[in-house]
Amino acid sequence: TFVVTDNCIKCKYTDCVEVCPVDCFYEGENMLVIHPDECIDCGVCEPECPADAIRPDTAPGLEKWLEVNAKFAPLWPNITMKKDPPADAEEWDGVADKYAGHFS
Ligand code: SF4
Ligand code: F3S
Repeated sequence: TFVVTDNCIKCKYTDCVEVCPVDCFYEGENMLVIHPDECIDCGVCEPECPADAIRPDTAPGLEKWLEVNAKFAPLWPNITMKKDPPADAEEWDGVADKYAGHFS
């Protein structure tokens, strides 16, 4: 499966949802997540993210993100159409460890 990671937070560009063949993105207030049971591992979304926030679960150090994606995907609503990012998305793009400031 692929996972959405830290840099999606407060960027939420949503380009990813348009290309997913199985529509397995789910939307929270500050970020999107991928449903691990629905993702078919096609990898199409990874290069589409302008914030470079999507990774294969085989990448190192992703334990926390595997947990976050698996935990919230069943709770959040499905999103299949691109929408405008937050007005301050570019200011947040690349800020380190956004998770610590917004989820804990
Ligand atoms: Fe969707 Fe493919 Fe990305 Fe999985 S890897 S979330 S199936 S586009
Ligand atoms: Fe997030 Fe990138 Fe999708 S910023 S909403 S994972 S396009």
